Amino acid sequence: MTSVHFRIAPIAIDNGMKLTRTLAAGLLALAGLVTAAPARLTKRSFDYSTEKLRGVNIGGWLVLEPWITPSLFEQFPDYGGDSPTVDEYTFCKTLGSDEAYKQLQQHWESWITYEDFKALADAGVNTVRIPIGYWAFELWNDDPYVQGQLAYFDNALAWAEELGLNVMIDLHGAPGSQNGFDNSGQRGNINWLEEDTLTLTVKVIDELASKYANHPAVTSIELLNEPLGASLNMTVIKQFYEAGYGTVRQYSSEVDVVIHDAYVGLTEWDGFMNTPDYDAVVLDTHIYQVFNNWQLELSLEDHVRAACNQSDSIGLSNQKLWTIVGEFSGAMTDCARWLNGFGIGARYDGTYYKGSSWIDSCDGESNVNSASQFSADKRANIRQFVEAQLDAYETGAGWIFWTAKTEAAPEWNFIDLVNNGVMPQPLTERWYGQQCS
Ligand SMILES: *[C@@H]1O[C@H](CO)[C@@H](O)[C@H](O)[C@H]1NC(C)=O
Ligand SMILES: *[C@@H]1O[C@H](CO)[C@@H](O)[C@H](O)[C@H]1NC(C)=O
Repeated sequence: MTSVHFRIAPIAIDNGMKLTRTLAAGLLALAGLVTAAPARLTKRSFDYSTEKLRGVNIGGWLVLEPWITPSLFEQFPDYGGDSPTVDEYTFCKTLGSDEAYKQLQQHWESWITYEDFKALADAGVNTVRIPIGYWAFELWNDDPYVQGQLAYFDNALAWAEELGLNVMIDLHGAPGSQNGFDNSGQRGNINWLEEDTLTLTVKVIDELASKYANHPAVTSIELLNEPLGASLNMTVIKQFYEAGYGTVRQYSSEVDVVIHDAYVGLTEWDGFMNTPDYDAVVLDTHIYQVFNNWQLELSLEDHVRAACNQSDSIGLSNQKLWTIVGEFSGAMTDCARWLNGFGIGARYDGTYYKGSSWIDSCDGESNVNSASQFSADKRANIRQFVEAQLDAYETGAGWIFWTAKTEAAPEWNFIDLVNNGVMPQPLTERWYGQQCS
């Protein structure tokens, strides 16, 4: 038996989609089919109606981010120059394909290993979200990107399968860049949808889904990370999501299709893909409290309150589409070196741009490699903030921490936070009680 598959006529009521899936899960359990099937052959799925998603992102691996692995970018001291090297695109362009391939292969080989996946599984994580760029599949125009990531990606899927981790595949970069962030591959302009990149993006989803949608460890595919709704045409983003959904469904009726909220607010998605025509759609929102001054000025208590404040809207949205917080961290400052981009300073200590206002010093936060170097007070504060976020986000369908590890930036380093008693272990342990109730 290679797959177990029930089609049940969708029930046309509010939440019909969820009811259908709950029924299907119940029938499977009754029939004893789930436990009877050999593990290797069972296509896993994640049942949001009975389980919270507790996940970790595998950031800075198959898509470079200078602040996650600054050591790869220290070779480019001239970041203030005319054509600075600030992202994976310029990394490949500056080094040329042979040298870029050599360095990237070394990075793919070493930055994330089986031991890291094992550490995540041991910490009680049930899902890893793995960012990958379109350029792993297709090049566009005169792209300097190098390929070869997929062999490492395949290894990661095998580790996940062995360790019982679910995988959310996350298309993190679209041709031309969907947000202008370095983590899209290319920092600066937002050229996605400016030229005819939509067809190519859907083609990449087609390749990705045909290759991976039926992999036993893959439970979901996110069509695109963080398209910047304010700078793009929302109508076209929605058309893209519909095209992407249809493309994934050609290969699998089961794998969850994840859509990012495009930063326009959860209520913008009320009713979208929430009809019997769509099944297994998950809405992803990202919550950080360090990318504008008013949040950086909050006290610990207000950071906690701001996290708890999200509970209602997430819980409400979760009654329409399963809603996850697919990225968040323990950071309450933007002091991590290059967090705002290679060569760019922090808002917190006034080095973001010339004339930035100053909130406090970043001393003791930048250039710290591990939470073990923080004071006990600071570790306790981060833990309190993290606990509040986990509670708030579990009013929805769950959460995915950004990110598994960093070279520095401990507030963002899940494995290091676990090792230093900052991340609750088990993940449901609370030192600060139910802060959101
Ligand atoms: C957004 O795209 C739609 C569909 O192509 C188009 O009809 C509409 O005019 C566009 N809106 C703007 C503001 O460009
Ligand atoms: C929490 O939400 C309330 C009501 O919307 C708002 O007045 C308050 O400023 C929020 N607090 C924080 C810290 O975000």
